[in-house]
Amino acid sequence: MRKKPARWYAIPMEDTLTAFSFRLATPDDLSAVLEIENKSYPLPWSEESFRQEMEKPFARFLVLTDDETDSVIAGYIVFWVMFDECHILNVTVHPGWRGLKLGTRLARQTINEAVKRRAKRVYLEVRKSNATAVAFYQSLGFHIDHIKKSFYSDGEDAYFMQIFLDKPNTL
Ligand SMILES: CC(C)(COP(=O)(O)OP(=O)(O)OC[C@H]1O[C@@H](n2cnc3c(N)ncnc32)[C@H](O)[C@@H]1OP(=O)(O)O)[C@@H](O)C(=O)NCCC(=O)NCCS
Repeated sequence: MRKKPARWYAIPMEDTLTAFSFRLATPDDLSAVLEIENKSYPLPWSEESFRQEMEKPFARFLVLTDDETDSVIAGYIVFWVMFDECHILNVTVHPGWRGLKLGTRLARQTINEAVKRRAKRVYLEVRKSNATAVAFYQSLGFHIDHIKKSFYSDGEDAYFMQIFLDKPNTL
């Protein structure tokens, strides 16, 4: 039996309020994760990519699941904490549950873990065309530091965004 942390959030699901909480992803979650991933990105991650993240000692792959069945996945996040830095590689909310602050909870959980592990900054890359995600990260305090030209395999540029945990952030 997997141990789940205390309930932290309740959202409507099939006319009831259902609590969702974080836990580490397992291989059993991958089909639901891939369904969300494939609906969310022009170049989605493969099953193999997610499997690899489960095995890296410095990687964390968290899913947000319902407390009742522990099988409904509302979102997930993959990040690395190495040395004094945290790198967010993937944060995705189920298309049906966007705009409910679940992405914010996923990112804040990550930032909290980065603080506990004494990271000095959290950073990520995001497609220049992904205005929703850029606004989402800005709402959390991230700022655009520079552009990475042709960062994605289809040639699109990325914004490199970061937030400092040990000093004031300048916009
Ligand atoms: C980006 C994403 C994770 C945001 O998750 P979410 O749970 O819908 O976002 P939240 O409800 O926590 O929103 C927090 C803030 O982000 C911004 N935001 C979120 N959705 C937005 C939208 N559609 N348009 C503009 N700003 C938006 C707002 O500032 C919002 O704060 P507000 O509700 O007070 O206005 C989600 O849209 C998603 O999964 N997108 C597809 C995958 C993706 O692009 N991931 C990022 C890859 S780098």
